Amino acid sequence: MRWSHLIPTPSKVLDLACGHGRHAHWFAQRGCQVLAVDRNEEALADIDRVQNSNIKTRCVDLETGSWPLSGEHFDALVVTHYLWRPLWGDLVQCIEPGGWVIYETFSAGNEQFGAPKRADFLLKPGELLNVFKDFRIVCYEEGQLDCPKRVVQRIVAQKCEISGLELSASPLKS
Ligand SMILES: C[S@@+](CC[C@H](N)C(=O)[O-])C[C@H]1O[C@@H](n2cnc3c(N)ncnc32)[C@H](O)[C@@H]1O
Repeated sequence: MRWSHLIPTPSKVLDLACGHGRHAHWFAQRGCQVLAVDRNEEALADIDRVQNSNIKTRCVDLETGSWPLSGEHFDALVVTHYLWRPLWGDLVQCIEPGGWVIYETFSAGNEQFGAPKRADFLLKPGELLNVFKDFRIVCYEEGQLDCPKRVVQRIVAQKCEISGLELSASPLKS
């Protein structure tokens, strides 16, 4: 909510591992076209029941097989409370140049407070900064929150219109 004014409307938004779609609903009521994906059919059915024409749901398992959204691109990617590291490359590439990522999940240190505790599900210090290092970072936060006590990382960042790779691939002129 704090940063969603950065996402223009109408925009194509991907709510990845959306659960019951709290962010899908938020962006849909702002006028975005949202694709909400999750493997939980019941959660997706709850979203469908609301019959918001701005939200489409898709049931996918993000952790088996190849990236299920191959060839699809989004103006914004929203991910909260979900981490599956093999997807990093696909998440970066599914964002349109000039598009945005809003990502928040649990970070190392959260294990002292409760689930998730497994290292696989906890970001390493600075990990979101590293994954989105070629983006224009608008906000990055890492630390402990209260009520409930938890340790998180958050990033809001914009994919550059011209990637570093394209820049370095340009022929140099004397
Ligand atoms: C903690 S919930 C977060 C839901 C939502 N992003 C939110 O913050 O309210 C994690 C979500 O990840 C989904 N998930 C876990 N593993 C998944 C997988 N392999 N493929 C797709 N979704 C998955 C779960 O079904 C669940 O809805």
